[in-house]
Amino acid sequence: MIQVKGKTSMAVSRLSLPQLAPRAGAPAASHARAPDCSELPPPAPDHVRAARRMIDSHGRVIRDLRLSITDRCNFRCVYCMDPGVRFMERERLLSTHEIIRVARVAASLGVRKVRLTGGEPTLHPELTEIIGGIRAATGVEIAMITNASCLSRAALREWRRAGLERITISIDSMRPERFARLTRSTCTPADVLDGVSMCLDEGLTPLKLNAVLIRGFNDDEAPMLAGLARRFGIEMRFIEYMPLDSGRAWDSSKWVSADETRRAIEARHSLIACGDDEPSSTARTYRFADLPLDASARVGFIAPVSSPFCGACSRLRLTADGKVRPCLFSTREWNLRALLRDEAAGGDEIANFLIDATWTKQAGHGIASPAFVQPERPMSAIGG
Ligand code: 5AD
Ligand code: SF4
Repeated sequence: MIQVKGKTSMAVSRLSLPQLAPRAGAPAASHARAPDCSELPPPAPDHVRAARRMIDSHGRVIRDLRLSITDRCNFRCVYCMDPGVRFMERERLLSTHEIIRVARVAASLGVRKVRLTGGEPTLHPELTEIIGGIRAATGVEIAMITNASCLSRAALREWRRAGLERITISIDSMRPERFARLTRSTCTPADVLDGVSMCLDEGLTPLKLNAVLIRGFNDDEAPMLAGLARRFGIEMRFIEYMPLDSGRAWDSSKWVSADETRRAIEARHSLIACGDDEPSSTARTYRFADLPLDASARVGFIAPVSSPFCGACSRLRLTADGKVRPCLFSTREWNLRALLRDEAAGGDEIANFLIDATWTKQAGHGIASPAFVQPERPMSAIGG
């Protein structure tokens, strides 16, 4: 096990976060303690395998692959990563070659979009090779989500040349002191906004911003964050806080619903539903009533807690250590890494594995149900 140092994060983390203390009796999830499940998924029915598509038993088709390429992060966001997080041993993480191989097989089974996530994907030393390799092997759309702390024009240009098309950036607060407490990093909102400008200059568009609001922490900032959409002509999305934090501090009093957030924004800016969202899209988008119809400024709401969008889910996740998670909230995961490292296994075996794993995808997450079980892995070890 590797204990990552992250000196700056630890220093800032001493600032108290009383409202985010772990729930009593809830052990903090750790990356290192993620279940080392060595199971293969049970075989899907023959007609499903024969279709060479990833289809689940509820009729949903996988089009969108979320690839977590590292569990490391230089932030310790309070809604995601505990300051004492232990990362996985490097040997457990998939190699660049293995990541590209999975993307190639997934594309042959109908995946149209690959989103690189983390942890923080820009910390991966071979990010350009991963992007270029996926592009050469598949031709699918390649997007990435980042905290924007490690962006430079040169890097953005290189990633774009390699095949990266779109970026999503997280920004949860515009106030430097609060941003520091929330991310437990030395990065500032101004640094993130510089990253936004650079992405726009380098043509990595349409660019989206994400914010997670926590009641009593940063929920008063919704209108100000929505103002970023107007300032940059982009989409600002608000994601409901989900029980996927490694500190297990989530409880139902801390998440803020999409409706409540929208009402808070509407006190400052009138919004009109765009009504053109893809059914499988996670966000419901709104435009500003005072801006022209074709203005690119938008506000999006991602409401996994108040209105789960599981019915139209087209996503499959691969963790940085090679586990296929059919759902963000899966309590089961399937060990693709073992197959990738089995020299006898060919592309057909990997394809069958992905088809079989997809068939096990659960209908939904049931966050609101009393029987809900928080997955062992935090968001940073799943990939957003
Ligand atoms: N709830 C909601 N969103 C989360 N993210 C990380 N952890 C959580 C959580 N517990 C978001 C990040 C990022 C995306 C990858 O997932 O803010 O935008
Ligand atoms: Fe898809 Fe699972 Fe997320 Fe629902 S909770 S949208 S099924 S990944």
